[in-house]
Amino acid sequence: MGYRTPSSTRADDAGALPPGPRMPQPLQALGWALRPLPFMEKCRRRYGDAFTLRVRRGRPWVFLSDPADVGKVLTISPELVRAGAGEANPLLVPLLGQRSVMLLDEPEHMAHRRFMLPAFHGARMRGYGEMMAQVAREQIASWPVGEPFALWPRMQAISNEVVMRATFGSTEGPRMDNLRALLQRLTDWLNDSSRLTLLATFGSQVLSRNRRFRELMAPVEAALLEEVRRRRAAGPRPEDEGILSMLEQAYDESGRPMTDQELRDELITLLSDGPTATSLSWTFERLLRHPEKMARLQAEVLGGEGEEYTEAVVKEILRLVPAVPVVMRGLVEPMELGGHTIPAGTLVAPAIYLVHHREDIYPRPFAFMPERFLASSAHRPGAGKGERTAENYAWLPFGSGVRRCVAATFAPLEMRHVIRAVIEQVELAAAPTGGVQRPTRSSVSFAPGDEAPVVVRRRRSPEERRRSGTGGDQPRPPAGASGPGKEEGASGPGGGGASVRSEGDTGTRAPHVGQTSSPAGAAVGD
Ligand code: HEM
Repeated sequence: MGYRTPSSTRADDAGALPPGPRMPQPLQALGWALRPLPFMEKCRRRYGDAFTLRVRRGRPWVFLSDPADVGKVLTISPELVRAGAGEANPLLVPLLGQRSVMLLDEPEHMAHRRFMLPAFHGARMRGYGEMMAQVAREQIASWPVGEPFALWPRMQAISNEVVMRATFGSTEGPRMDNLRALLQRLTDWLNDSSRLTLLATFGSQVLSRNRRFRELMAPVEAALLEEVRRRRAAGPRPEDEGILSMLEQAYDESGRPMTDQELRDELITLLSDGPTATSLSWTFERLLRHPEKMARLQAEVLGGEGEEYTEAVVKEILRLVPAVPVVMRGLVEPMELGGHTIPAGTLVAPAIYLVHHREDIYPRPFAFMPERFLASSAHRPGAGKGERTAENYAWLPFGSGVRRCVAATFAPLEMRHVIRAVIEQVELAAAPTGGVQRPTRSSVSFAPGDEAPVVVRRRRSPEERRRSGTGGDQPRPPAGASGPGKEEGASGPGGGGASVRSEGDTGTRAPHVGQTSSPAGAAVGD
């Protein structure tokens, strides 16, 4: 990537870097590939808030988990750091293409970002809200009733459709059906956890050289380019109103429109939204383990009592299982971080996951406690804690600074609409398939390993409930949940033997996948 490395402060000046494991580089690569989240946690416990890993040959990675350091890296002048997303996730370069906003450096990054931002602002967001609710209702209506199914693919179907409609406007017709099917095939293939582990170990070449990947990618690219060219030739039409039409009409400061290839890369970037689906799957996975929290949420949604608890659930899930656990930047200049002068050329990794699991900011960091985000809560991050508040880089699932997620309002809005639609339409129970939900790599995020198996039954409408005379907006624990004791219990959904570790402050055994042999082995907590 051509980082500048002044001879006095080269990235391999080990003395300048924070401490880290001494094990050989291939073993560090394996630790990262197989169990990235517990591996990071272990290193933080052992070496402190800033530590160095040698995941790839060559440049070391310096992980940061002090919010002050994280904030400094994310908000520093963008010319002083380079994009590192392709290093953090080797899938991104072959999938998104070099001209994706996520992978570009300044000043091009900012030019592309400016093209995109208007599509995620203000009045547009209100329109998206109704569309999101409608997509969710349509999809939920097609869920099987009374028989187990995996929630994660259903959540993917919802978020894929939402992002397609936001991007293209209308998604009806054979061309869109074809694109939907091609994207689905590609995503299914990419979401194979052993393939993703290989990729995490050996880097992006594993994918770019893979024949099957090229076979699946080529028709997606062709379909997108055809769509772009067709629309450009036809000119603007009201039914095509969406993010793509905004990108097509955007010009950079020199008056140049985006090229077809640039549009292709940005479209794939938008359409490969995995984080919203994994976050939604975790939301219900966690709620099903905490019947009293599910009941409180149901009471709010069905009683029309506002959105405070729903918002708190969304915030807590994005804290507990941040869909993008680490972001990365390449230092162009040396930088003071964690008491070290980190040399230019080093990759620094603000570890969102580690910040979100700091005991000093979030007491019982592995516990699912939406209540900590309620205004009235003494556990609210930062309440009575001086400097370290949620605002000061302690809650940053969407990153911060000039590369902050463009969908930082869009994604939580979608989550709230989908949660609401699910609760209004069905009663959920964990399917009795056994096993704790083990986080596993998905293409751009971490999904519940069992894909969150559930069983649903239709909830009667308020009208039906009135007619049957049972009143019935009374929320109750979902069928199959065994009451409050279950949240601290030792079994996963449906009572299968979960791997657990005790959480010191409760003295109980809480499911904690970080201690399991899960593929990603992430710590999600009780
Ligand atoms: C829960 C859902 C999501 C989470 C947690 C999430 C998280 C993130 C994070 C942490 C970054 C910053 C990466 C960095 O600093 O290097 C990012 C960037 C980005 N995200 Fe998201 N994201 C989500 C959903 C989405 C969706 C739905 C879209 C598009 C429809 C999207 C589009 C983007 C883009 C284009 C960027 C690059 C921004 C830039 O570099 O200027 N994200 N996302």
